[in-house]
Amino acid sequence: MKKLLITIDGPAGAGKTTVSRALAERLQYRYIDTGALYRGVALEARENGIPPEDDQGLEALCKGLELAFIRNENGVRLYSGETDISDAIRTPEMSMMASAVSARMVVRKALLDIQRRMGAEKGAVFEGRDMGTVVFPDADVKFFLTADLNVRAIRRHRELEEKQAAQKFEEVEKDMALRDAADSSRALAPLKPAQDAVFIDSTEISAQSVIDQMMKHIRKKIDDAA
Ligand code: DC
Repeated sequence: MKKLLITIDGPAGAGKTTVSRALAERLQYRYIDTGALYRGVALEARENGIPPEDDQGLEALCKGLELAFIRNENGVRLYSGETDISDAIRTPEMSMMASAVSARMVVRKALLDIQRRMGAEKGAVFEGRDMGTVVFPDADVKFFLTADLNVRAIRRHRELEEKQAAQKFEEVEKDMALRDAADSSRALAPLKPAQDAVFIDSTEISAQSVIDQMMKHIRKKIDDAA
C-alpha cells in the first residue's frame, strides 16, 4: 500500500496532537510533533542564556543542536544530545518562548532542514503550523484543524491540571490568544491553512469524530493511488 505524508496544522489546543497520534497509530506511520522541536530550541536557548532576539546566539546554538525523537520505555521522547527533554519543554514559559524563537529566520531555517530530512521517508504524520504551507507543500493529504479560543483554552487548562503544572484558566486563555496572534501575524511561515488543506473545526465535535473525518480523506487518497 502506498505510504503517504500527512500534515496537520492549526493553533494551540485544537487537538492536533491527539488526532495525529491516533492517525499514526492506525496507519502504522511515524508521528512527528514539530512544535516540540521549536520548544527544544527555546529550552536550550534559555539554558544557555540566549534571548529570543539574539540571532547570532540562536544561529550558533542551532548549529550545535542535536535534537532527535527517540523511543524509550516511556514512548517516543525528544532528546537534546543525551538528555530526555520531553517534560521540560511542556511548561507555559516554554510555550511562549517557543513562539518567540519560532519567529526568527535562523531558527526556522535550521529546523526546516531537520524536518525535511525526517519527512524524506513517507509514512508519517507531521503536526505544526507551517507543515502544509512551507515545509511539505507537496504533502499527500493536508489538514487545518482549529477550534474557538475558549474551547481550546479549556482543553489546554485541563491538560496542565493533569500534569500538575496548573496555571489559572484566565492566564491560559490570555497566553493562547497572544501566541495565536504572534504565530499568525509573523512574517515568516505564519500559521494559515494551505490552499489545498481540508479545514476542520473541532469546536463542537469530539476528537473521535475529527479522526473519522480525517480517515475518510486519507482512505480516499490511498484508494485513488492504488
Ligand atoms: O505546537 P506547539 O504549541 O508545541 O508549538 C510551540 C510553538 O512553536 C508555537 O507557538 C509556534 C511554533 N511552531 C512553529 O512556528 N512552527 C511549527 N511547525 C510548529 C510550532
